Amino acid sequence: PRAARAQGATPAFPTRAITLVIPFAAGGPTDIVGRLLAETMAQGLGQPVVVENTTGAGGTLGAQRVATARPDGYTVLLHHIGMGVIPTMYRRLAYDPVNGFDPLGLVTEVPMTLVGRKDIPASSLADLVAFMRAQGDRFNLADAGIGSSSALCGALLARAVGARPTVIPFRGTGPAMQEILGGRVDLLCDQTTQTTEYIRAGSVKVFATPSRQRIATLPDIPTTTEGGLPGFEVTVWHGLYAPRGTPAPVRARLTGALQAALREPKIVQRFAEIGTAPVSQADATPEAHQRFWTADIAKWKPVIEAAGTYAD
Ligand code: MLT
Repeated sequence: PRAARAQGATPAFPTRAITLVIPFAAGGPTDIVGRLLAETMAQGLGQPVVVENTTGAGGTLGAQRVATARPDGYTVLLHHIGMGVIPTMYRRLAYDPVNGFDPLGLVTEVPMTLVGRKDIPASSLADLVAFMRAQGDRFNLADAGIGSSSALCGALLARAVGARPTVIPFRGTGPAMQEILGGRVDLLCDQTTQTTEYIRAGSVKVFATPSRQRIATLPDIPTTTEGGLPGFEVTVWHGLYAPRGTPAPVRARLTGALQAALREPKIVQRFAEIGTAPVSQADATPEAHQRFWTADIAKWKPVIEAAGTYAD
């Protein structure tokens, strides 16, 4: 190796454990996907991939942790649609939310579901809308803070309904779901990667999915448009990032490990059980990821400006 290095060849990577930062609480949807990915990528990389939940401020603290880490490939980030909305929603950040990262590849795109406490007095989306309007700010909506997908979905729902619910932020929708299960909060808009289990068990009430089409694995759930509330659509794309400036060979190794993980039958099967699927191999590339991310920032900017959903 010493001779190889002297000739300018790439040093071996990785030679020690990699930290995968998850910007939301353990047990929630990003964590569920992240832990599956970490375990599978570790096999391909020949080193442990250790999950670190750096939570708070709607996913921006975890993103900041990676944007400001050494760009050596040993600290990477799994983040979601938040990367598309945070540049517009946050006017002040201690990191660059657009240029602080090297995208490594897309991972998956997860449908969302509107789930409520089991005893909420509504049995359809139309009932829910009427209840939200009648309750005003007595109606509680849980989310994972401004910048999270649950907060984006909640804000769009409130706007579509014309209601002003009380928003209760958590460090992730994992803890938020506990409040729904405990009947202490009314509603949560959350990804199927977490909600499928509770919907199947009947421990929450499900009203709709804000997707264009019904969810293949949960076909009884109407779309919000079918349920009489057209005009908003949110699905939660996820991508893997390194800090900006990570050497190209290191990035290539990480992208290769991501692609290999997404081909693994175990991941394909487990993702299917929780209502999602890995992206295509062509989308698990830095180029496709960068294109999609840039387009997503542009897509949400006018929506956020119109809704006035800012963090400050
Ligand atoms: C989580 O992992 O807790 C969620 O993805 C947060 C969110 O975006 O709502």
